[in-house]
Amino acid sequence: MVELLKPAEAHLEELTAIDKVSSSLPWSKNLFSKDFNNPAAHYLVAVESGKVLGFAGFWLLQDEMNVVNIAVLPEERRKGLGEKLLKGILDLGVSLGADFATLEVRAGNIPAQALYGKFGFHMIAMRKKYYADNGEDAVVMIKNQLKQ
Ligand SMILES: CC(C)(COP(=O)(O)OP(=O)(O)OC[C@H]1O[C@@H](n2cnc3c(N)ncnc32)[C@H](O)[C@@H]1OP(=O)(O)O)[C@@H](O)C(=O)NCCC(=O)NCCS
Repeated sequence: MVELLKPAEAHLEELTAIDKVSSSLPWSKNLFSKDFNNPAAHYLVAVESGKVLGFAGFWLLQDEMNVVNIAVLPEERRKGLGEKLLKGILDLGVSLGADFATLEVRAGNIPAQALYGKFGFHMIAMRKKYYADNGEDAVVMIKNQLKQ
């Protein structure tokens, strides 16, 4: 059974490895470790039999939750884990006082945009040449009225 847990130091290695295979601008272990100690940052890991299968995190800025990252191990994708993690952080954000959620996603990242669209996020802006590695545009998305 997959459980959603708050990450512990013991999860850091696997979480960083998932980011490394999921992102073209991955975070170092040190950066994740620092963010775990950021009072505005909140993360969940999806764990099965002690193995980390995915994670998601957001920063809470007043009543806005900004989804910073969500990633699932490549071999565990398309099994509902992305949805489980996104629902988990949205519920956590609401419990902490968030009224709306925002995020940036690469213009070419169709799987992630489809996931966000399924949860009621819609595009509000494009940030041109936002990503440093390849100059790709970012799509800015929002989900309002989280409490409904
Ligand atoms: C985006 C990501 C987290 C989705 O995780 P997942 O566990 O595969 O997602 P789920 O199985 O829960 O799928 C939920 C929905 O996402 C969308 N989706 C997921 N993968 C998709 C794909 N390859 N193509 C199109 N839609 C996709 C679909 O709408 C799907 O719903 P459906 O199954 O009813 O069609 C995963 O693809 C991933 O880790 N990608 C790399 C990291 C990344 O891009 N993160 C986003 C940063 S902004």
